[in-house]
Amino acid sequence: MDAIEEENEGPMRLTECAHDILSSVIQPGDIVIDATAGNGVDTQFLAEQVGPDGRVFAFDIQQDAIDQTALRLMNADLANVTLFCVSHSEMFEYIPPEYHGFVKAIMFNLGYLPKGDKRLITQPATSIAALEQAVQLLAPGAMLTILLYPGHFGGDAEAAAVEEWCQELDDEEFQLDSVMVDDPVAPRLYILRKLDV
Ligand SMILES: C[S@@+](CC[C@H](N)C(=O)[O-])C[C@H]1O[C@@H](n2cnc3c(N)ncnc32)[C@H](O)[C@@H]1O
Repeated sequence: MDAIEEENEGPMRLTECAHDILSSVIQPGDIVIDATAGNGVDTQFLAEQVGPDGRVFAFDIQQDAIDQTALRLMNADLANVTLFCVSHSEMFEYIPPEYHGFVKAIMFNLGYLPKGDKRLITQPATSIAALEQAVQLLAPGAMLTILLYPGHFGGDAEAAAVEEWCQELDDEEFQLDSVMVDDPVAPRLYILRKLDV
């Protein structure tokens, strides 16, 4: 088991940390987004948080991931999720316009599908395009989390691109926090909060 599988299938240290942080802002009835559905762990968490009156929009480019997520949601009796087998770099177009500026939380858990094809990874260009759109969808006070895995092939370049993008955010508009250990290949979590300005 390597870093992405450990995080998502194992003890889920930073994944749980992201869940804990997001549960402080998500309310029943909210609109939220999972930008990387994968096996549906984060989508299920979000669906439970927003409850039957809320809605989760979840994206993944792999039909296997969408199917795994749909199965997980069905087993958990959760019907408040819309799944898109589409790149998150198209999210602005797929999220209904009435929710633009009202999304309370967005999760990015980058890398490859745990137990899937490890060659199919998130890419810097599409991840940055998606992040650019995601911040426009957020409500004031909303949060966005990005879980990065610099340890797999391609993950280091993506982590560098995303970290540079984070550093360039306007600090009058966004508060940026991170959770990481002093190890260049360890997973790391970035947390953005859209300030209520
Ligand atoms: C680490 S996994 C996500 C784990 C997931 N959140 C969970 O709870 O199981 C990363 C996922 O990103 C997906 N992905 C890769 N490129 C993508 C893109 N452009 N848009 C959306 N998802 C993408 C992969 O197919 C993979 O399923």
